[in-house]
Amino acid sequence: MGGFAAVDVIRVKRDGGVLSDEQIDWVVDAYTRGLVADEQMSALAMAILLRGMTAGEIARWTAAMIASGERLDLSGVRRPTVDKHSTGGVGDKITLPLTPLVAACGAAVPQLSGRGLGHTGGTLDKLESIPGWRAALGNDEFIAQLGEVGAVICAAGERLAPADRKLYALRDVTGTVEAIPLIASSIMSKKIAEGTGALVLDVKVGSGAFMKSEADARELARTMVELGGAHGVRTVALLTEMSTPLGLAVGNAVEVAESVEVLAGGGPADVVELTVRLAREMLDAAGLPDADPERALRDGRAMDVWRAMIRAQDGDPDAPLAVAPEVEVVRADRDGFVAAVDAYGIGIAAWRLGAGRARKEDPVSAGAGVLLHRRPGDPVRAGEPLYELRADDPDRIPAARAVTEAAVSISAERPALPPLVVDRIG
Ligand code: URA
Repeated sequence: MGGFAAVDVIRVKRDGGVLSDEQIDWVVDAYTRGLVADEQMSALAMAILLRGMTAGEIARWTAAMIASGERLDLSGVRRPTVDKHSTGGVGDKITLPLTPLVAACGAAVPQLSGRGLGHTGGTLDKLESIPGWRAALGNDEFIAQLGEVGAVICAAGERLAPADRKLYALRDVTGTVEAIPLIASSIMSKKIAEGTGALVLDVKVGSGAFMKSEADARELARTMVELGGAHGVRTVALLTEMSTPLGLAVGNAVEVAESVEVLAGGGPADVVELTVRLAREMLDAAGLPDADPERALRDGRAMDVWRAMIRAQDGDPDAPLAVAPEVEVVRADRDGFVAAVDAYGIGIAAWRLGAGRARKEDPVSAGAGVLLHRRPGDPVRAGEPLYELRADDPDRIPAARAVTEAAVSISAERPALPPLVVDRIG
């Protein structure tokens, strides 16, 4: 690969130019190997955030990130493979019931997940509240479980898109996370390298999401759908509402408990609706359009796969889940309807209660979180519970309550509620 001076590559993007394929290949590779310094990549990331990238540049950047590491070969798995990725939200536990549900309908779901940072939770943190459950699997173990159980949720290995691992950490501390070309290439490089045959994206929009505006969410969705297609991965995206948390539980063990309710045929209506809708999209994309996910939830097949999936990673699906000892129940101060439960505020509250982390290396509390008793549109009478705050340490509760008080509002009239699925792109 021919060499360039990093500063020349930075200048091209700074001045609004288009990077050549060779420049992109070189800078991504040289950064991964430590030949381009963090301060140079920071400047380039900022130039990309401010100037954008063409579709061709984004495709090449993504390919270079994939080429920085290994690409898993799932061709030995006899079922069609399909994965789902959510851009992250509050109370978004959908991966937990969805993965075994789609496997119960005949596909194999290779779900490489992450941990939470900031106000959004991480799937691995949630599953780690199940006693014994192990997030780290070797490639052979991952592929074997995918073939036998059909469902795996685990941590991405170190060798998968290492350029992204390094670049994401840098973006996090340089104010450059929000660049759509960088988000799209970051997400898609990992999903393509993981080897899935098809992919359904759940692009969240609203206060609790990365993308606060529908226009940005649409652009991100379109960019990712194109990237998937260009790399031979059938990709569709749903744009879904994230101004209210999903379901009633926000935290770690509380979200596992709610997911198990869904797998048992109950659970909150919005969580069930989105799980079934995404399952249908995944099964269509996997070439299994006749599968019936609603039936697999009702007849217990999805629950059977859940139990097998948890056991395969040394978890005990029957073990009691952690319950935080400190509980404060907040009640309505008047009669009316719940007008809004702001996702961002509830996410911050759960984080302050101990369910999330401020730095990568911080531990999380399994039992902490927020449990809603009412959702937007529900009637409530003065004195009835609106939500509860749970923590291991009572000193965490006042700071959480300071945000939930502003996040939850009551009105005299029943509010109009937006649809959960805003659009489908693909
Ligand atoms: N999630 C990712 O994996 N990458 C991003 O850049 C943003 C969200």
